[in-house]
Amino acid sequence: MSPVRMLIDCDPGVDDAIALLTAAHVADLVGITTVNGNVGIDHTTRNALAVTELAGLDIPVHRGASRPLVNDPIDASRIHGATGLGSVTIPEPTRGIASDDAVAFILDTARSVDDLRVVAIGPLTNIALALDADPSLPDRLGGLTIMGGAAVGGNVTATAEFNIWADPEAADVVFRLGGPLTMVGLDVTHQVLLGARECRRLRAAGTPTSVLAADLLDYAVERSREMKGWDGAPIHDACAVLAVTHPELFGGARRPVALELTGTHTRGMTVVDERGGEPDDSHVTVLRSVDSRSVVRHIVDAVIAVGSN
Ligand code: BDR
Ligand code: CA
Repeated sequence: MSPVRMLIDCDPGVDDAIALLTAAHVADLVGITTVNGNVGIDHTTRNALAVTELAGLDIPVHRGASRPLVNDPIDASRIHGATGLGSVTIPEPTRGIASDDAVAFILDTARSVDDLRVVAIGPLTNIALALDADPSLPDRLGGLTIMGGAAVGGNVTATAEFNIWADPEAADVVFRLGGPLTMVGLDVTHQVLLGARECRRLRAAGTPTSVLAADLLDYAVERSREMKGWDGAPIHDACAVLAVTHPELFGGARRPVALELTGTHTRGMTVVDERGGEPDDSHVTVLRSVDSRSVVRHIVDAVIAVGSN
């Protein structure tokens, strides 16, 4: 079976970097677009270029939005470090961006690649702008999968997850799109923790990408221990990649989802209607369960394999 063709919209970001490496092995990664998010657009774009170059991947990187639709830019450097890759340094990329028009690249690729799967693992600014430019975009996609939101709880506020909270208006556009949309939220990603065991496996493999992933993971595990007292770190964004390539490892249901834009305590909340009407014809599939052990294994295997090609 030929691999799924995938475009990733991202804001690397420690877990985005691991997601890119994972995707390059489990999918045919046709392009990468970057967005302001975990850190500013200069850093996220540079990190996408640097990570792919280190892995020996010649995948075009297109720079995207430098700010959210309405919000002032906010970042997650508290989690991902000032440059977005924690305390890890990667050589400066020698390759430059393919363009500074991520939206045009998304629209063109949807036209030229059959059954394209778009995986958005940062704030949804680029995707909302693409939908605004061409509302028929969903008709040409094999599907859109996002890492974002939660049926229950949040990680930036009590009710909001970072990617949604960073640009709620963009998320609102995306959730109203009407094409198949899969939401991989904290409900799933908080069940998939990578820890010391995975660091050891990655380091022992000794490839440039596996050592990079081990360094990133060490940093993420330490942050997770400090901030949450957890014995491992959620690598959120890689879960969204695997939800596309290995859907059998995830469970969920179609549910109506609305975006809270105005609530004093709930701005950025993904309000999932769990009442489950019959038939439930929502276009959004909300994933809630996951075979965590298998997903962890696939992430580690992929990161090791991509560096051994
Ligand atoms: C999401 O927010 C970012 O900090 C991560 O890269 C991930 O995409 C998790 O809430
Ligand atoms: Ca991200």
